[in-house]
Amino acid sequence: MAVFKVSFLGLVVMMALFSASTLSLAHPAGFNFGWGSGWGSEPSRGHSGYAPAGGSFGLFPQFYQFSCPQANDIVISVLQQAIAREPRVAASLLRLHFHDCFVQGCDASVLLDDSTTIASEKRSGPNRNSLRGFEVIDEIKAKLEEACPQTVSCADILALAARGSIVLSGGPNWDLPLGRRDSRTASLSGSNSNIPAPNSTLSTLLTFFKRQGLDEVDLVALSGGHTIGVARCVTFKQRLYNQKGNNQPDETLERSYYFGLKSVCPRSGGDNNISPLDFASPAKFDNAYFKLILFGKGLLTSDQVLLTGNGNGNGNGNAGKTMELVKTYADDESLFFQQFAKSMVKMGNIRPLTGSKGEVRNNCRRLN
Ligand code: HEM
Repeated sequence: MAVFKVSFLGLVVMMALFSASTLSLAHPAGFNFGWGSGWGSEPSRGHSGYAPAGGSFGLFPQFYQFSCPQANDIVISVLQQAIAREPRVAASLLRLHFHDCFVQGCDASVLLDDSTTIASEKRSGPNRNSLRGFEVIDEIKAKLEEACPQTVSCADILALAARGSIVLSGGPNWDLPLGRRDSRTASLSGSNSNIPAPNSTLSTLLTFFKRQGLDEVDLVALSGGHTIGVARCVTFKQRLYNQKGNNQPDETLERSYYFGLKSVCPRSGGDNNISPLDFASPAKFDNAYFKLILFGKGLLTSDQVLLTGNGNGNGNGNAGKTMELVKTYADDESLFFQQFAKSMVKMGNIRPLTGSKGEVRNNCRRLN
């Protein structure tokens, strides 16, 4: 299979391509993600206040049919230019939508900057020094304000940009329900407590997703978003040097991949060095992510545990169902695409503000 013929040299070249603008100085932080203390432990919040994500909540694909019929075309044309400048933008925009939806719903709360009334989610452990793509959202918003003033919400722009990024990266297209409005609040604490950490066990991942009304099928399909983009060394270093507190690497890591990762991610320093989440085809939306997991080449613990279960490498934990799904999507790309699209719609339906709730921001970074 061509996918696995990529040599480690190829991996390094691809990492260099991706890292041109992002590689930065090391600042050693041990094996701490530098994402704050809420990370890496079991979830502490209850389920209260979270509506299930399955319903439509009044969103519908034709929402801007009369008020801004060209909305999607504008989004796509800005994306085309931005992705041509820097392919990684597609991945960054997909992740923005995810980090928006998991914190008080898909309401563009993630886009708000600090102000007298707002504690920005951009400062949270999972987001700080990590989330990107904000300038592209600003550019889309500016063009949409010119074409259809005060009409298209920032929350819908995030959803449109995520779908457009996937389509432009070779992934599936789907009917995207629209009509979200923008929050007048943000939740820094919600951002710290609702986005799963990369060293999560399978049961923690399932718990975090269930809190949002998403099940194990959604977890596996949406994790397939890691078929594009990169992660910093600090997010997978623990696997290389001290996975279980005994100074040993994660035994589920394939050996040659492990040695390659060590060259990118030294024991001390290099925390901001980056590695592709899917080194076989880092800018292409395909099912290579799942194939790599089958070979022990998932980058994050949270990727590999979808196959191995709760991290002991013996194939147990409650991985039966997720393991089957990883195999199924590795085998059948079109099935992965179909489920990914369905799960994206489901994620995009997490607690949107509709009707007269919230507002349509003029500038995605601040309240009107
Ligand atoms: C299942 C739980 C998940 C965990 C633990 C997780 C964790 C991470 C981490 C640690 C990174 C690298 C961040 C950095 O280095 O600063 C990352 C990147 C990324 N994640 Fe996830 N993620 C999860 C689910 C998702 C989902 C559901 C999506 C979208 C559907 C997604 C899309 C992405 C993308 C596209 C990137 C690359 C971003 C870029 O290159 O800028 N992730 N994720």
